[in-house]
This record gives sequence, structure tokens and C-alpha cells, in this order.
Amino acid sequence: MGKPLSTLVFLLLFINCVYSWKKDEFRNCNQTPFCKRARSRKPGSCSLIAADVSISDGDLVAKLIPKESSQENPAKPLVLTISAYQDGVMRLKIDEDQTLAPPRKKRFEVPDVIVPEFLNKKLWLQRLKEERIEGGLVISSVVYLSEGYEGVIRHDPFEVFVRESGENGKKVLSLNSNGLFDFEQLKENKEDNEDWEEKFRTHTDKRPYGPQSISFDVSFYDADFPTKGPGVDDSEPYRLFNLDVFEYAHDSPFGLYGSVPFMTSHGKSRGSSGFFWLNAAEMQIDVFSPGWNNEYSSVLMLPTDQKRVDTLWMSEAGVVDAFFFIGPKPKDVVRQYTSVTGTSALPQSFAIAYHQCRWNYRDEEDVYNVDAKFDEHDIPYDVLWLDIEHTDGKRYFTWDKMLFPNPEEMQNKLAAKGRRMVTIVDPHIKRDESYYIHKEASEKGYYVKDSSGKDFDGWCWSGSSSYIDMVNPEIRSWWAEKFSYENYVGSTPSLYIWNDMNEPSVFNGPEVSMPRDALHHGDVEHRELHNAYGYYFHMATAEGLVKRNDGKDRPFVLSRAFFPGSQRYGAVWTGDNSADWDHLRVSVPMTLTLGLTGISFSGADIGGFFGNPDTELLVRWYQLGAYYPFFRGHAHHDTKRREPWLFGERNTELMREAIHIRYMLLPYFYTLFREANATGIPVIRPLWMEFPSDEKTFSNDEAFMVGNGLLVQGIYTQRAKHVSVYLPGDESWYDMKSGSAYKGRAIHKLEALEDSIPSFQRAGTIIPRKDRFRRSSTQMEYDPYTLVIALNSSKSAEGELYVDDGKTFEFQQGSYIHRRFTFSNGRLTSSNAGPATAGDHKYVSECTVERIILLGLSTQPKTALIEPENRKVDITWGPLLLRGGPGPSVLTIRKPNVRIADDWTIQIL
Ligand code: GLC
Repeated sequence: MGKPLSTLVFLLLFINCVYSWKKDEFRNCNQTPFCKRARSRKPGSCSLIAADVSISDGDLVAKLIPKESSQENPAKPLVLTISAYQDGVMRLKIDEDQTLAPPRKKRFEVPDVIVPEFLNKKLWLQRLKEERIEGGLVISSVVYLSEGYEGVIRHDPFEVFVRESGENGKKVLSLNSNGLFDFEQLKENKEDNEDWEEKFRTHTDKRPYGPQSISFDVSFYDADFPTKGPGVDDSEPYRLFNLDVFEYAHDSPFGLYGSVPFMTSHGKSRGSSGFFWLNAAEMQIDVFSPGWNNEYSSVLMLPTDQKRVDTLWMSEAGVVDAFFFIGPKPKDVVRQYTSVTGTSALPQSFAIAYHQCRWNYRDEEDVYNVDAKFDEHDIPYDVLWLDIEHTDGKRYFTWDKMLFPNPEEMQNKLAAKGRRMVTIVDPHIKRDESYYIHKEASEKGYYVKDSSGKDFDGWCWSGSSSYIDMVNPEIRSWWAEKFSYENYVGSTPSLYIWNDMNEPSVFNGPEVSMPRDALHHGDVEHRELHNAYGYYFHMATAEGLVKRNDGKDRPFVLSRAFFPGSQRYGAVWTGDNSADWDHLRVSVPMTLTLGLTGISFSGADIGGFFGNPDTELLVRWYQLGAYYPFFRGHAHHDTKRREPWLFGERNTELMREAIHIRYMLLPYFYTLFREANATGIPVIRPLWMEFPSDEKTFSNDEAFMVGNGLLVQGIYTQRAKHVSVYLPGDESWYDMKSGSAYKGRAIHKLEALEDSIPSFQRAGTIIPRKDRFRRSSTQMEYDPYTLVIALNSSKSAEGELYVDDGKTFEFQQGSYIHRRFTFSNGRLTSSNAGPATAGDHKYVSECTVERIILLGLSTQPKTALIEPENRKVDITWGPLLLRGGPGPSVLTIRKPNVRIADDWTIQIL
């Protein structure tokens, strides 16, 4: 076995703060009793054994009972279920035994995250194989999982794992191999010496149900160095608790706006695996350094011949509902994870273009001015955003009548140029009897309650406010109705929505959020679902936008909080970052990490939310942000105006150029968004996802791939003279602007140019573009395409183009064009890549290809012929005309004018 080298990626936002972060406002592990208790347990301390292991209803079921159970201290068993699903997914559930005396409370299981199609993929387990190992002393029960893999439960001590098939098959993932499993069962009553209340700063959590946490260890095999992110303080576990952190720092494991309890590991020898715990309570996760458990090795169930990363997962409440993903490729793990939680929704095409936001565009005149300036400076943009000040006193769904007297006219004027608007709608509702939303919500009992049963009242932008209880489907449906054109007065079909503060943020609450003992529908405590609150709010808002158009158009909703499944409802962003180089840099691992959790549509505020970026930082941010899946400029109200034309002609030109690159690449991005929608594979990807066996990519999070064809390297320092970029793989790479070729598997030290950051097209790919510049993406709809072919060493390449109406759900009925382009033996062929579409559901496009650029030909061809009609087309041979510097001669086929919807071949002679 070769030396396995791997990277462990944490699927949560790991950020910290440098200067202003008020660390004391937030709890650390020591101040969090369940975390402290779990961390103090010793390896091997779990005394549970698996009993009554059998197959029932297609699942493996067992009881977990303490090994030493006496008559005075009878065993209160836990119930364990293992199920297998198609495509290499194993699910493990552990809960209290509901058949015993009904517990005081049913523990919370998170609804509406697992997609129904996943449940249909269940494999009906029929056979349980028993194995006796370690001299016949230890019994394990084994079930078939998928080709080459088995699920195993070892009985005494209890351990669950996935392994390669066969008694000596290597372990892939395991749970409780370090014996740290612990499950605090709900008690009827307090014991005399117990105090269930918890205090933090001025807040008291009554904890009426007492301790109910769960913790266990998970091991990832053939995986090496876990990373907590460069410089991350490792005395604290990663904290998954959705929080509104003021001026967060860039490299801390503390909680931030969203949580996805999913971890993937990767190693050179075996590949990737993943583990997901569906649980919405506060979670903390430790990653241990090798050797942490050496002194306990005799009581542990760990193989000595496999590399391994051990982790400890701790949650305050809920049940064990965990998913093991066997990989083995990085893309397989994302596919498996998104088969459980869903793939990214396909956005409307405008939503992947450039968005201009600021807290706040003051009034209608400001809006018209900003809009006009974009045109004056020839900078395309698609969406103008209105922050909280557009409302009547932070009453969402209303307008400030002085500042925005004619909202419909304003939206219609922008819509006439193909532009949209977005308004903000937060979950805190102003407690004002004359505000219709408040009146209805309080009358109907739709608010979250405090621990005494009254409407919870907290402080947010709108002052004294209550919070809609989004976990209740009936309330979500009521909320969704609020977006109808009739109800949301002043809204039009070109208006879309931004959900903010949905962690939820409560300015005077514990840790700036809602008390854990607040109560939701069905007597669910806030502690049990905290991390999913924002998810349900996002879901309800997206449903509202779908409903207002009778289900025809796709919604667009940006959310700050997120949870597994958020990808099905819209975009997220990385919240209130700061205008400094560290935040520019960390925006890449943050958005990459989100992509690995299936949340493809994400980005960071361009320029940094807090503070004033200097011009160079702002320009570099546009150059990098043009490749974020979600591309939006945004700023705090205390900052100076920073629209792209305010920094002198040269800088306007540089920012225009950056935004133009994004518009040119829109057909490629849209094709990638469709791929994410179909498969879960994210739009932007860490290098190791495309090059899983190239160790040099494993810890590189400064560069990233856009799809499989483009590599982008940010510039993260001021006045950089040079930038080093590692180009992976054996093939060459072509500089996107000059067409010059660079060798793969090498670090290149390049001159840092003012006008762009390094970006390269991978040899062997074909990228579709639209190179004509317009005011908005809508105006590009009928424009012709450019195809850029980057030849590999065997002089071939391939790529795809996906096109649909960019707006409706018709694509789900097959109404789209999906082409595959292949180049080999001097011929470029366009063929259908999708299922043959027929009848009413055919998407029609008259768009043609106006230019084909071939990178990597060493000699000039004589001519190009379109087959089958043998029509000759013009070719030119010379440097790239894409505003590039000097470069090698490349072939350009001019005006072939073949339709993208058709099959055709172009031969180069
Ligand atoms: C929050 C958001 C920020 C927004 C502000 C006012 O801080 O993260 O983007 O501008 O609230 O709504």
C-alpha cells in the first residue's frame, strides 16, 4: 500500500475574527455543558453491546444495552436500525425505545430534509451473515451494502462500520471504534443533586427536559492529515450553531450563519468517503491529531495497518440519524450526499449574472441613477437590490412611501432593460398592532413561543419583534401566500427576495439568537431545531415565489442561514465579511466548502461588507468574484459608495473587464448549474475533486476549478508582483487571455497582472461562451456563441452546452437543448447529450455559433468545411483577439453559423 495522503474537509463555515469579534458573547466548549461532558470521556468508556440483532422489514435492527445491567439498575435499551440504499449509502438510526413506557417527550427528528426519492432507493435487506472473529470470541453481523462493500455491526463492544467486502476487507468508515458513544436518555424527573438549568451571561436556559445530548466518534480510513484550516485555533472543536457573528474573523472554528453536519475525507490510495448526521441541534466536532488515543489502544477496535482520522461528534439533542457514504471518488461522495438532501435548484439565468447591492439604495432616484450609470459606463448588471431601509419602518412587505412612492413603476422601468430587483424580507416581525402581518400572525398563533407559552418577543431591526414559527407546514403555507402580487403590494414579476437574519438573529437573545427553551409547533424546543430554522424560512419564501406565478417560474431567494437541503431553495452568501485581504482569500475555501455540501450557489460580498476596500482590493475582489457562483457587490451603510465607476477611468475599466468575463462565461456557468442540478457536483470545485490522485492539490485552497475546464488562481496580496500557480495533471493548460500553453504538474511563477487574475483552460475541454457585450444577461438571450477548444496531447477535446428558457420549470419536462461537442481527428462534432426530446416539450433556439477558437494547434490549417453540406468557412490564424496580450497564433473559425440545436461536424483541413 502506498502512503495514503488525504485531506479532510469540514463542511461548515470555518471562520473567525481578527479584531472586533466579541468572543465573550459566544460560548466556547467549556461553557457548553454537553460539549464539556463529551470531551471529558475516555476512549473505550462506552459499555453498550448490541443484542437481538436481526432483520426486520428490510432493515438490520438491534438493541443497545449496557453490558453490566443489574436488577437495581435495569437496562434501558436503545434501538438501532441500519438500512442500505442504492449507490453506496448506509443509514444508521439510534433512538430511545418507544415501545417502553412512553417517554415524556419524543426526541426531535428533522422533517423535510431527506428527499422522498431517496427513500425509494432503499434496498430490502434479507440476509444477515454472522462472523466470529478474534478467536471466535467476538461476533459481528454483516449485511450487503453495494458492489464490493458491506455494513457491519460488531456486537461486543458495539461498533458500526462500512468495509470492503470480505472478512478481512479494509474499513472505510466506522462509528464507536474509539468507544466514545454516549446517549443521554430523557429522564422522568431530576435527581436530587441535579441542576438542569444552564446560565450563560445574563441568560438562563430552563432546560425542562434535562440533559439529552448524544456523542460518538467516527473514523475515516486511508485518510491522512485532517485540516482545521490554516491557522485555526484547535483548542476548540468546530462549532455548528447558526449565529449572527458581528465582524467575524477569517480562520476560526466557531459557529457562523449556517451549519451542515457533513464531513468528507480524501486519501490518495483509496479516495473519498463521507459522513452526515442529520441533526439540527447545536453540534460540536473535534478532529483528533494522530496518536491522541495511544494510551488506550488495548481497549479500542481500530486496525493498526490502516491510516485513519478520528473525529468526535457531539450534539445537544435529537437522535442519531447518520449516513455513511462510501465514495470512492470525491464526486461520488457529493452525489451520494445530495441523493439524500437533494441537488441544487436550477436558478433562472439572470440570477447567475451580476447583482448590485448596498445597504441601502436610498430612494427611487438613487436606483435610477445607479441603473443609468451602469449603462453610461458600459458595465452589464442584472439585479439591483433594496436592503431594509426601503420598508416602512422595517415592516417587511411594505414600502417607505416617501422614498419609494412608485415601486411598481420602478421595477417595470428596470425590467424593460431586462433587469430585476430584489427586496429583503427577514423573519422578525414588528410587534405593531397596525401591521397586518403581525396582526394575523399573533391572532393565528403563528409565532414561536417563549418557555412560558407567550409569543416570544425579541429585539431586531424592527425593534420589539416576534418570529414566525417556520417549522409548521401550515404556517409556511400562510407565509408563502404573502408573496402573491395581491398580498405583497408594490411587487411585480421582476421582484425577487432576500432572506436575512434567519439564524435567527435576536439582538438581545443569548449569543444574539433565540433562547434554547423557546417553543415551536408540536412542543419542539428551539434547541432541537435551531440550525434548521433559517432553512424552513428559506423554504417557505421560495415556495411563495413559486406559488405567485402558479408554479411556472423558478424562484430566486438568497438566504444567510443554511442547513442540509438549503441548496433546493436558492442561494446563500457568506454574510458580513470585511474589506480586507484575508477575507478575500478565505472566500474561496468558504464557497468551495459550501459546494462540497451540495450548496453550489454561493458567494461572498464583493469588496467586503464592513470597511472601505482600497481600490486595488476592490478590483482584485471583482476579478475573483466574477467566478463565484453567486456574484454580488454589497456594502454596509457606513461605508463609502463603491459602485465600479467611482475610482477613476482605469479602475472602472478593470472592474468592467472582470464583470465582462463573467458575462462571456454565462453559457458555461449555466451548463455547470445544470450539472449541479442533475448530479449535485458543485459549480466551483476544489482542485482535488478534479485531480483526486494529485497530492499537490490536496491542501491548495487558493486556486479552484470552475467546472472541469477552468482553473482560477486568486491574487490575495497587495501590490503583488508575482503569483505562483500550481497546474495539476499531466496535460497542459492555456492562459484564458493569451492562449499561451503552460505545462501541467508544475508550479508556475507568473507576473501578477493588473488587469486579471490567472485563469487557465484545461487541455482537452471545450468551453461555450457568448462574447458580445450587452447591458444585461436577458439581452444576450439570442446572441451567437463562441466555442473555445483547448486541445490535449492527443489533439482532442470535449465539452457541453446546456440551454433552456432560463426561467420556467419546463426543463423538468425535457424542454432544453443539451449538446456534447467533441473534437478529434481534426473534426468538431456537435451531438445531442440529453434524452431525445419530443412533442410539446421541445425547447427551440435559433442561436448559432459565430466563432470557434482552437488552442493548441502547432501548424496553420488550410481551411474548414462544414459537413454534411461541405460548406467552406473562413478561418484566421493569429494571436487571440480576446483583449489579450501577445500570445501564440491560434486558429479561429469565423462565422460557421451552425445552429446550436442541430447536429453538425466541422472538419479542419
Ligand atoms: C445583515 C446582513 C447584511 C445586510 C444588513 C442589513 O447584516 O448580513 O447583508 O445589509 O443585515 O439588512
